Amino acid sequence: MQSALASATLHPEPASRYHSQMNQPALSAAESAQLDAAVAALQRGECVGLPTETVYGLAADALNRDAVRRIFALKGRPADHPVIVHLPDAGALTRYAREVPPAALLLASKFWPGPLTLILKRHPDVPDEITGGQDTVGIRVPAHPLAQALLRRFGRGLAAPSANRFGRISPTTAAHVRSEFGDQAPVVLDGGACQVGIESTIVDLSSGTPRVLRPGMISPQQIEAALSGLGTPVLGQANAQIRAPGLLEKHYAPRTPMRLIQRDADIAPSAHLCMLALGQLPEGQIGLALPAEPTAYAQGLYAALRTLDESGASQIVVQLPPDEVAWQAIHDRLKRAAAGSK
Ligand code: TXA
Ligand code: MG
Repeated sequence: MQSALASATLHPEPASRYHSQMNQPALSAAESAQLDAAVAALQRGECVGLPTETVYGLAADALNRDAVRRIFALKGRPADHPVIVHLPDAGALTRYAREVPPAALLLASKFWPGPLTLILKRHPDVPDEITGGQDTVGIRVPAHPLAQALLRRFGRGLAAPSANRFGRISPTTAAHVRSEFGDQAPVVLDGGACQVGIESTIVDLSSGTPRVLRPGMISPQQIEAALSGLGTPVLGQANAQIRAPGLLEKHYAPRTPMRLIQRDADIAPSAHLCMLALGQLPEGQIGLALPAEPTAYAQGLYAALRTLDESGASQIVVQLPPDEVAWQAIHDRLKRAAAGSK
């Protein structure tokens, strides 16, 4: 394996053609047939692999309790962990949230469709299976045209956590989803490689103070700027009472132990180590490099971790990106992926 990695610089898979078509998706006959099959599976209460611009989701009918339970069974996820409801636009919000505060409307108009999840007070019709029994519900409007097309054809909200087994790396291609679930894999809509590459920013608007519960590529500064017209107070810290598995210390993790190092740390090359380098793989090291720019780095991160995880090395060593705001969400994912590694 390692020869396959030697001196490679990882260029994230070519940008999905969907990006440029976001406003006018032209679906091919094959895509339309795939969508019909996916809608039929959802109507039977089955799960579907859903491409979004962040990561692939494992989707099921949000208002069908048995279907939502199937998501948990497939993922091996504890039942009290809530899942996000995906909608085609903000119009259906009041069907799932009993209160839609001005801050939600502002953030929705600025960032939806896109990589932002809002936590709002739940509508009584939302099943406990979705909310983990909490009084709130997470809602997102994804931008990916296939997700949009599926949501519109299906006509109901889709509950969808990331399509990985619990605690593992989120999938950013259809092939990743199939390899996560093997012979249990659901129908997967193939929407190409995800544009954003890491999970959405989660903002809790269910109490007076907006809080970022999970950092993502939409930064707290962008959220604050969008809310500044409301005179909204500074974003607070995550509330320890809220059950959000993305907040678990160890998450998004490869099986291979992972160690974070400073970019300039001198690590002797070894056949047992593989490196995820920043910008360029140092002379003599085996591994991959990701671009030293946060958007492209995030886009390629999970695919790179999967490749390194399958490399057979006994440790993945990751050069830390700069300690800057633009890299905050990436630092968060790297820290969680390395947590618990010896
Ligand atoms: O980008 C994303 O958000 C992807 C794509 C598929 O949309 N989804 C995703 O879902 O990352 P998941 O389940 O892997 O992570 C969602 C996070 C979890 O940490 C979950 O606990 C949290 O959102 N969450 C969902 N509903 C919540 C709620 N009512 N209160 C607090 N956290 C919630
Ligand atoms: Mg997840």
